[in-house]
Amino acid sequence: MKTPITELFGIEHPIVQGGMHCVGLAELAAAVSNAGGLGTITALTQPSPRHLAAEIRKCREMTDKPIGINLTFLPAVNPPDYPGYIQAIIEGGVKIVETAGNNPERWMPVLKKAGIKVIHKCTSVRHALKAQAIGVDALSIDGFECGGHPGEDDVPNFILLPRAAEELKIPFIASGGMADGRSLVAALALGAAGINMGTRFVATKEAPVHDNVKAAILAATELDTRLVMRPLRNTERVLVNAGVERILATEKELGPATTFKDIATYVSGVYPRVMRDGEMDAGAWSCGMVAGLIDDVPAVGELIGRIMAEAEQIIRQRLVGMFDGRS
Ligand SMILES: Cc1cc2nc3c(=O)[nH]c(=O)nc-3n(C[C@H](O)[C@H](O)[C@H](O)COP(=O)(O)O)c2cc1C
Repeated sequence: MKTPITELFGIEHPIVQGGMHCVGLAELAAAVSNAGGLGTITALTQPSPRHLAAEIRKCREMTDKPIGINLTFLPAVNPPDYPGYIQAIIEGGVKIVETAGNNPERWMPVLKKAGIKVIHKCTSVRHALKAQAIGVDALSIDGFECGGHPGEDDVPNFILLPRAAEELKIPFIASGGMADGRSLVAALALGAAGINMGTRFVATKEAPVHDNVKAAILAATELDTRLVMRPLRNTERVLVNAGVERILATEKELGPATTFKDIATYVSGVYPRVMRDGEMDAGAWSCGMVAGLIDDVPAVGELIGRIMAEAEQIIRQRLVGMFDGRS
């Protein structure tokens, strides 16, 4: 399958693994890229630019296919060393960067000068238009169902993707709720040029996380995610657990007066405890509603192969068959 995204990134299949804190390490990124998708290392999981440079080298030893780096711009009192991380990306020879969290305008000149293609992830048409105007190459449009930060507009992909298609001139991929061949065909039908997946890739053999995390995703249904940090306008979709229930109770009690400090115990430093140690009740970790569609832990290559085969079968047989009386 050729789409503007496979052409832009030089990949075989229009399937991207989105940046994921404490999950997007060299092992997973290499597995996705080796399977013909685009694997992504998450920069801020590395404690310093020097560590990111080492992770890029490690990934390069595992694949010679294109890889991407996720740069998440967080609202932080003491921002991470973004110039240092960008330098590590450039020196590591990586040519694709996924930006997220905030407008990447400030970093565009240095990224473009290095010949890097930028795909910006955002949750609204207005932010997508802004990113297009500042010169990003592609967009990843994250619907309300996504794991992680869906923004504050709450528009699901069945509306958001066709709206994006109406307005955008550059290619975009559909993110949030994507799991299988059905998702890919639907995304293409709604105007996207491929899909971005987070949660689905966590439940794979190569995802370098504790088995408890994979088991929790398998056990979860589409009803088991919650939105936390809504009062802070920093909404995150997470898998429900005892820590998350505590956050929600605090937010209910304090309402709009909730501050980060009030919930920090169950938000700050939680990822390593969950992903590395398997402490499933520690607090908030991103998970999409798509958990309801995930029932197994395949190898990444098997997953991507299956998505492409199912998409082809749906298009060539089910859909075409509807026109020539076969279905
Ligand atoms: C465990 C986890 C951690 C994530 N961490 C990040 C992150 O650090 N930066 C980022 O831009 N997106 C992050 N995301 C969002 C994903 O890149 C992707 O946009 C999202 O998962 C898509 O929705 P889906 O989970 O329904 O596939 C994370 C998602 C998950 C599931």
